[in-house]
Amino acid sequence: MKQFKRTLVTTALPYANGPVHIGHLAGVYVPADIYVRYLRLKGEEVLFVGGSDEHGVPITIKAKKEGVTPQDIVDRYHEIIKKSFEELGISYDIYSRTSSKIHHETSSEFFRHLYEKGEFVEKTSEQYYDPEAHQFLADRYIMGTCPHCKNPNAYGDQCEACGTSLSPLDLIDPHSTISGAKPILKPTKHWYLPLDKHQEWLSKWILEDHKEWKTNVYGQCKSWLDLGLQPRAVSRDLDWGVPVPVEGADGKVLYVWFDAPIGYISNTRELLPNDWEKWWKDKETRMLHFIGKDNIVFHCIVFPAMLKAEGSYNLPDNVPANEFLNLEGDKISTSRNWAVWLHEYLQEMPGKQDVLRYVLTANAPETKDNDFTWKDFQTRNNSELVAIFGNFVNRALVLTQKFYGGVVPAIGELAEIDRQTLTEFQNVKANMEHYLDIFRFRDALKEAMELARIGNKYLADMEPWKLIKTDEARTATIMHVALQIAANLAIAFEPFTPFTAKKLRNMLSMGEIKWSDLGRIDILKEGDKIGKVELLFEKIEDDVIAFQINKLQETKKKNEIDNYKPAEVKANVPFEEWEKTDIRVATVLECTKVPKADKLLQFRLDDGMGGRTIVSGIAQSYPEPEKLVGRQVLFIANFEPRKLRGIMSEGMILSAVDADGKLVLCEPSREVKPGSTVG
Ligand code: 2FM
Ligand code: ZN
Repeated sequence: MKQFKRTLVTTALPYANGPVHIGHLAGVYVPADIYVRYLRLKGEEVLFVGGSDEHGVPITIKAKKEGVTPQDIVDRYHEIIKKSFEELGISYDIYSRTSSKIHHETSSEFFRHLYEKGEFVEKTSEQYYDPEAHQFLADRYIMGTCPHCKNPNAYGDQCEACGTSLSPLDLIDPHSTISGAKPILKPTKHWYLPLDKHQEWLSKWILEDHKEWKTNVYGQCKSWLDLGLQPRAVSRDLDWGVPVPVEGADGKVLYVWFDAPIGYISNTRELLPNDWEKWWKDKETRMLHFIGKDNIVFHCIVFPAMLKAEGSYNLPDNVPANEFLNLEGDKISTSRNWAVWLHEYLQEMPGKQDVLRYVLTANAPETKDNDFTWKDFQTRNNSELVAIFGNFVNRALVLTQKFYGGVVPAIGELAEIDRQTLTEFQNVKANMEHYLDIFRFRDALKEAMELARIGNKYLADMEPWKLIKTDEARTATIMHVALQIAANLAIAFEPFTPFTAKKLRNMLSMGEIKWSDLGRIDILKEGDKIGKVELLFEKIEDDVIAFQINKLQETKKKNEIDNYKPAEVKANVPFEEWEKTDIRVATVLECTKVPKADKLLQFRLDDGMGGRTIVSGIAQSYPEPEKLVGRQVLFIANFEPRKLRGIMSEGMILSAVDADGKLVLCEPSREVKPGSTVG
């Protein structure tokens, strides 16, 4: 493997049209931060670059909806995203943004350079234009009927009802979402990156020279290459973005996917105005892009083609893309608000950054899509962080306080078991390195946890709390070894749970740490003073989890209501048939739950004809049935009587089914005589 002098790590620039959620974190930001922290601990030269992606059509749509400017939108979300990353400990060297002056300059220069080298092809094609708003329409600004499922609200790029990818020309009866006008086709000129011309070297570079890339990444690249690459437009007719820097390009901006990856370069330049080039052009710099699977083609094919066309830049050495994280069994969705938002998590779970980092890593979608559930979050906290890691450290430190007044005791001669323990945790270091070096952070984390398990087992086997009564010297050695394991944990967990690692380092008065110390049992010295002992993790109680689950259930309900579509109307019924149904009004005399039946209520009704009993399946919508007494209901009086749970039910009570599935009793709008007919 080629040896590099330094590593540049980039993370996908999140769109500044909303906050970031756990899917982004698990896929991109937490793994990148783990890797960077690991390299820094090893003393390597590393630069960690991030920022917000502030261009593109969704931002302009959001701005229009809210009646503000796109700049207002990106200012709002850039701040939220930046602050929440900082609070989660994502340790960027710079987190900047693509609406900055330096980015506009950098991406303009980049485009011009390619333009002057003749790396683009110019093409004129017909695109939809809004004759009332006097502008070309991005695909998302056109709506119409989906040709596949006939959904009348399909977008020009996709039908969200059936999931089909569309082109605006596929839509039946298209209209502009800006003015409502019927769009017309008008010719427009754009610049294209001829990816077909790059196909040959890209195929060799990826398929032959980078066989070590993760299989999900390699596989996706192979399918794109097998299909044959096509020229891609790198400009758009839009008034938000980096203006196309050539004559005759008024009203045109760089396509967001052209300027966004150049954002990595701009941000490096912003941080290191005089020294940025070594991070991008020196052959001894290794570049890694951390991204989600939806960004693979842009980072493995399009951006490398841009860099190659420019001529002086390095290509990425690896692109460790992850798959997606789902939430409670459903795809995370910003528009449906189906997400755990980082800024909300930080507010609702103060001081629990590391729990989230831990859970998202333990369950990271590294090779396939994975599911985040709040129950799993609770279990991992309570039975892993609290019961294994926290418990071991607490026992080791509390016993040291108790037996030795908080001072690291002297180590005596090592017994066979001590030596075995030492060998085991030396294996941990090698295993962790193996996994971290190939971006398998879940497995690396398991190894770190193994260290805590080893510590717990050692204390459980040695029972120093008993031994202290009979063998002081041996107890001192055991506690010394246990404290060294705790110190090892402070190193092993630093990339994963940096807040906890720091707390532990402080408790052990450790000062600066190095990766190379991992596996050693002389990190702490005899006589070192242990600081105040605090708990590393706290148990998470059921009510905290119930709050989160409930919040999601509320979202689900709201979505069901927002997306409610009435059921199709049944086949027509002739008047003579309909007339046979006898609907009447009754007053509720009694209403009780049917024992051992979750759904059933038993009504005693004054039907104006001597009274009757009806059993109705609405118990879940009316948890306090006694409150229905005195209300009036509509019921089918000639519905054939039938036995339900041993009770003869003489009719059927009418209720409406609301969008969320709740049943709502129908009643006359003013009180009428029981027995009145309805028709
Ligand atoms: O998918 C996204 O969220 C894009 N904003 C990622 C851009 S990555 C890079 F190219 F900047
Ligand atoms: Zn459809």
